[in-house]
Amino acid sequence: MIVVTGANGKLGRAIAERLSERIPASEVGVSVRDVENAAALRARGIRVRQGTFTDPASLRDSFEGASQLFLVSSGTTAGDTLIQHRNAIDAALAAGVRRIVYTSHMGASDTSHFPPMRNHAATETMLRESGLPFTSLRNGFYASAGIMFMGNALETGKLIAPEDGPVSWTAHADLVEAAVAVLTEEGRFEGPTPPLTSSSAVDMTEIAAIASELTGRAIDRVIVSDEDYRASMVARGTPEVVVNIAMGMFLASRAREFAAVDPTLEKLIGRRPLSMRDVLVAQLSK
Ligand SMILES: NC(=O)c1ccc[n+]([C@@H]2O[C@H](COP(=O)([O-])OP(=O)(O)OC[C@H]3O[C@@H](n4cnc5c(N)ncnc54)[C@H](OP(=O)(O)O)[C@@H]3O)[C@@H](O)[C@H]2O)c1
Repeated sequence: MIVVTGANGKLGRAIAERLSERIPASEVGVSVRDVENAAALRARGIRVRQGTFTDPASLRDSFEGASQLFLVSSGTTAGDTLIQHRNAIDAALAAGVRRIVYTSHMGASDTSHFPPMRNHAATETMLRESGLPFTSLRNGFYASAGIMFMGNALETGKLIAPEDGPVSWTAHADLVEAAVAVLTEEGRFEGPTPPLTSSSAVDMTEIAAIASELTGRAIDRVIVSDEDYRASMVARGTPEVVVNIAMGMFLASRAREFAAVDPTLEKLIGRRPLSMRDVLVAQLSK
């Protein structure tokens, strides 16, 4: 059985659904915080069990019988991520899991400007030290996050953000396909994968230009200082941890931490990955 955590979230839900189309649904399980939210997965024949990263006993139960565990990284703002990942890895060992596939990130590094990258690097070290075979999917930066960083530019015609750098924004849908390929065709990768990215890296100025072209309205890129951007988030009541993550993203992209473009994702999914333009087209048609 393959057990997927975070299956009430965007990535984990789609992976559980796609997996149940590729292998018998009875061979797929999910570990979720709220089993009621996973009723649709149960209706497909997927095993649904309660599992919370802060409750090791629940994880031992929800991982029971798993040969592979798909470990969706916990959100960086949701408590101590590393303790949560440690609990999940320990529970996988206790449950006799023989392989963990973990959602890491391109540019995972303990010296990154972007705080979540330091957690991913530390989790990869934990996985290495666990002695369990593992694959760490170095996922590209979500294109949906890029759209979030646009703020209300589509309404105001101004994309206001600090100086940034190119990012190989990558679509959830492509990362889901890649994850399913890695889970169902075992042995393709040991340890961290190459960066799983779209085929081009664009900065906020280029995103504004694409949005202008697609909407037929001028969307100007306005660069503000780090201090002013931070102050505007604080003024809106944004929690400090979120402010630091957002600012870290601009510093990291400026340092080209997310600029790499790699063909591995295209090879894994057998087609050209969606670009930021494709994702924006889909967003505008909503
Ligand atoms: N590649 C990137 O650019 C990028 C960007 C942002 C985040 N990420 C990482 O990618 C992960 C998956 O992305 P996504 O889009 O699927 O995010 P998402 O929709 O927010 O899903 C995250 C999942 O993690 C679960 N979770 C959080 N805390 C947990 C805990 N203590 N115990 C058990 N489960 C817990 C959530 O459970 P509930 O459904 O119960 O809330 C949710 O199902 C994120 O969690 C984050 O670590 C990557």
